[in-house]
Amino acid sequence: MSPVSSRPIIVVGSGIAGLWTALHAAPAPVLMLTSGAFGRQSATEWAQGGIAAALGEDDDPGQHAADTVAAGAGLVDAAVARRLATGSVDQVRALERLGVGFEHHEDGRWALSREAAHSRARVARVGGDRAGTAIINALISAVERADHVTVREHASVLGLVPAAGGGCAGVVVDAGGGRCEKLSARATVLATGGLGGLYALTTNPPGNQGQGLAWATRLGAVVRDAEFVQFHPTAIDIGRNPAPLATEALRGEGAVLIDRRGKRFMPALHPDAELAPRDVVARAVHRQVQSGAGAYLDAREAVGAAFPETFQAVFRACMAAGIDPRREPIPVAPAAHYHMGGIAADLDGSTGIRGLFAVGEVSCTGAHGANRLASNSLAEALVMGARAGQVLANATDQALRSAEPGRSVALPRESLDRLRSAMNAHAGVERDENGLVRLLDVIEDLERKDGLSDALVAARLIALAALKRRESRGAHFRTDYPEPAAEARSSRLTLEDAASAR
Ligand code: SIN
Repeated sequence: MSPVSSRPIIVVGSGIAGLWTALHAAPAPVLMLTSGAFGRQSATEWAQGGIAAALGEDDDPGQHAADTVAAGAGLVDAAVARRLATGSVDQVRALERLGVGFEHHEDGRWALSREAAHSRARVARVGGDRAGTAIINALISAVERADHVTVREHASVLGLVPAAGGGCAGVVVDAGGGRCEKLSARATVLATGGLGGLYALTTNPPGNQGQGLAWATRLGAVVRDAEFVQFHPTAIDIGRNPAPLATEALRGEGAVLIDRRGKRFMPALHPDAELAPRDVVARAVHRQVQSGAGAYLDAREAVGAAFPETFQAVFRACMAAGIDPRREPIPVAPAAHYHMGGIAADLDGSTGIRGLFAVGEVSCTGAHGANRLASNSLAEALVMGARAGQVLANATDQALRSAEPGRSVALPRESLDRLRSAMNAHAGVERDENGLVRLLDVIEDLERKDGLSDALVAARLIALAALKRRESRGAHFRTDYPEPAAEARSSRLTLEDAASAR
């Protein structure tokens, strides 16, 4: 790493999408801003399953794209899915060259996991359930060796600097003592991740509260499909938030979902039972929990004694909570896991706002539609990061004159808790009009009390998009409109729409 010598590309966020973008932008100078310790503040490190890529002998990118389209319930852009599926094969190989120890069989074939709604075993994994840690470690080392990247840790970004005449001229960071500092950029890349931290139960780092969405919309960016929040069906339910995950690969190995009496409940609900699309399984688990019948993941027969070696992360999380998954079923509940919606962007991260790019979970390219296929998120982050980095490496440095940035305010802790409960209750696995109206009332009440914070902007975008979508599709289930509409349409909202409409 070396000091920045000229106006850099600023990358906000140090998860897989930000790190991969930074590496591919060489030799252009990159300043990476990360809110905590470098690489340790992102959801990437917590990823268990791995990366979806058509690496098996029985597979091809066309089949991967077809599965992606089928899972997305009518809202996946087929051309984007095709580019994602083709690109992820090259990206996984590139990570392997960088030192990520993906698993292979003795004869050299890829050892791949099966996850829900994939028609093939297709998930490249590391050490069973430790893909995220292995990937983040390899990327951190690569960035540390890269001369063109400077990392600023514990940088609290407050927003974006608007360019006079439109566009993004850089970012504003907290300089301490009530002061702020403007950092100008030749381009700004948002790689800020998702928004699980807006919910009372999540598998994400709790600081992920949709900040990137809020900043981008203040510059006029369009948010696509904001209502589609994916809930992971098998977060380990041990009273902890964020909740540790019990990876879907366990169900791929044959683990089953049972109620408190030991009876499987998925076979009656879907022909693929535990490997039904994630939204279907999440709703089933949600209803089990709500009704008091209970939901447990039983891996005793499927994994049993092999647990400590094959699913180390899950094993450790369970044992720490006093549950031995070799001998007893794991209590599970759905938790906010991934935002399919986001800043409308192309696969190279361009947002339509001059100087502003968005990569990874904060963006919405149309690859995931209404229900993301498992392990497609790391694949998308890599494909986008590589493309965005290459575009930025070749971009000329056009200085944009900056205008005065707006200031967002922090949401006090007790208001955040109130927002999280209301999001869980009314914009969760199941929604209806009354609940969404109540949620908007809570958001407006908090806006009046505390001012317009990033978390409230992001929550408002989700609530309003969910209220306007009078149908059920993928992860968006309306109990008052339980069927899908005849035509599948993406939603698009700006901050202006969100501020004025109900
Ligand atoms: C999991 O391992 O179950 C999570 C994978 C994903 O969300 O893509």
